[in-house]
Amino acid sequence: MTCSTSTLVFALPGNETLAAALAGKLDAVIGELVVRRFPDGETYLRFATPVAGCKVVLACSLHHPDEQAMPLLFAAATARELGAVAVGLVAPYLGYMRQDKRFNTGEAVTSALFAKMLSRHIDWLVTMDPHLHRWTSLDEIYSVPSTVVPAAPLLAEWIRAHVTAPVLIGPDAESEQWVSAVARDADAPHVVLEKTRRGDRDVSVSIPDPAVLRGRTPVLVDDIISTGRTMIAAARHALAQSLPAPVCLGVHAVFSGDAREALLAAGAARVVTTNTIPQDSGLIDVNAALAAAAADHLKN
Ligand code: R5P
Repeated sequence: MTCSTSTLVFALPGNETLAAALAGKLDAVIGELVVRRFPDGETYLRFATPVAGCKVVLACSLHHPDEQAMPLLFAAATARELGAVAVGLVAPYLGYMRQDKRFNTGEAVTSALFAKMLSRHIDWLVTMDPHLHRWTSLDEIYSVPSTVVPAAPLLAEWIRAHVTAPVLIGPDAESEQWVSAVARDADAPHVVLEKTRRGDRDVSVSIPDPAVLRGRTPVLVDDIISTGRTMIAAARHALAQSLPAPVCLGVHAVFSGDAREALLAAGAARVVTTNTIPQDSGLIDVNAALAAAAADHLKN
């Protein structure tokens, strides 16, 4: 069957802005996807726009993966059943990347399990800076082609435009990969703190070389701000060194509970993130970069 348009973009609930941005940049058409909950909590889903013969792009950031994955999996599988020629996923934030090891006997390695489930129903994946720590590449757990779009150039551009004499601070060893890339692009020095996490909300850090920070504006950079406790510990430490109030820059604004308010209350000058997860802090627009990566997959 021939598709009346070449590419259709569908928004999973809450991803309408992303879908519109993707459709605009991909010269594609927004399709209508009806998703609602039955009274018992199950998902109802219907493609109101025919997908037979079309390339389909699903827009779905996965910051609440437990509630978002079911509709997403149903949408991807149904698009294929209805004759879509390919189903791609643009997930600016890819959830379930942090449990990348069986830390305690009997634990589920959810990053690998989630990847396996998703890979079964999609043909390609585009995301931004997934939390690759013990996994070094998405290819280790996703069996479909994927593109990781780096946030570093966009964060660096924001720093250059908004911060005078910045020094970039990574709150823990895992942040080294992101903070060093942003520092290089922003042409600024950087340090990485030593972090000890004793529980979900119990974190402490220390600065190995405070001298490098003198006379500069601290910019804390991390991939994820979830409870905010990692950044709060880093912000407090910077303030204890008599540095100016830090700017907190995160790629993904997961913001569990009162994370943003708590960060500001701890002395952050401002909290700025990308818009991979819709939030007020999402001043750095990454949709054009995601669309460019999606365009490459659609060429095939
Ligand atoms: C850790 O491995 C990540 O890079 C972030 O530092 C962490 O996810 C932040 O979490 P939270 O905001 O809960 O401290």
